[in-house]
Amino acid sequence: MYHNYSYQGALAASERMRWTIQDVVGEGKKLDFSKPFLPESLARVESLSFLNAKEKLILNQIRGHAYLTMFGTVEEFILPFVMNSARPYSVDDSERVRALIAFAGEEAKHIQLFKAFREEFNRNFGTSCEVIGPPSAIAEAVLKHDPLAVAFLTLHIEWFVQRHYIESVRNNVELDPQFKLLLKFHWIDEAQHTKLDTLMIDELAKQYTAEEITKVIGEYLEMGTFLDGGLAQQVQFDIDSFSRATGRVLNEAEKKEFEQIQLQANRWTYIGSGMSHPNFLATINYLSLEGKVRLEQMAPAFC
Ligand SMILES: [Fe+2]
Ligand SMILES: [Fe+2]
Repeated sequence: MYHNYSYQGALAASERMRWTIQDVVGEGKKLDFSKPFLPESLARVESLSFLNAKEKLILNQIRGHAYLTMFGTVEEFILPFVMNSARPYSVDDSERVRALIAFAGEEAKHIQLFKAFREEFNRNFGTSCEVIGPPSAIAEAVLKHDPLAVAFLTLHIEWFVQRHYIESVRNNVELDPQFKLLLKFHWIDEAQHTKLDTLMIDELAKQYTAEEITKVIGEYLEMGTFLDGGLAQQVQFDIDSFSRATGRVLNEAEKKEFEQIQLQANRWTYIGSGMSHPNFLATINYLSLEGKVRLEQMAPAFC
């Protein structure tokens, strides 16, 4: 086996690290709109040379708002997926069931946490920011796919959460401390979810032939294409949110540069950083070397 994860270990860690929404939002815990929310490696606002410092900050916060809202959205398909995976229940396997129920409970908590964030953001940002959705339509489109493909997409998401926090948030002193706190608490739970997803994939994949696994990897990539279409739409929403917030209307050349740089920034954030994650690729490689090579060839387009 290429990993040493266990339901027992993930459950113990989840119980040890348990936190409540009140630990992260509420009294005295406010967003600081004088600071950036997202690390530059994800926001990529600095290369938009036609924006001044204040406009770059506003765009960074628009992207930060979309980032947390997007988590709330994907959690709406992860939650029912994990709950279905907890069935059938076996009395001999109670740690597995408890670990998966804890996982589902944590995703429900995240949905609530990000809603609370969004309400505070909307109260203080000044203008509205639209985000792709609705979550129920996205969940319906994703959950139509083969369960193993949904598990791959979930694992991809959980690993990029780890990557973003460890590589560019944890030691970043520029970011708003409150936004950073939201990312930190989310990361704590997601660290166990990566293990549980991997274990769910181990179980599920046993029922598939090599050919079926190749087909399922194709379905995972189809969902990536679906998401990519959504990201192009998100960039258009961000242009509108930016103009509403700053009063600045971009000319054609500026708009083109904005679209190109920001689409690629979104692609890296939600697709490339998951698809190219070494641990995600290790899972795919374990099941299909051909699949792993295919992903490695595709990832640069999303980086
Ligand atoms: Fe989550
Ligand atoms: Fe998660």
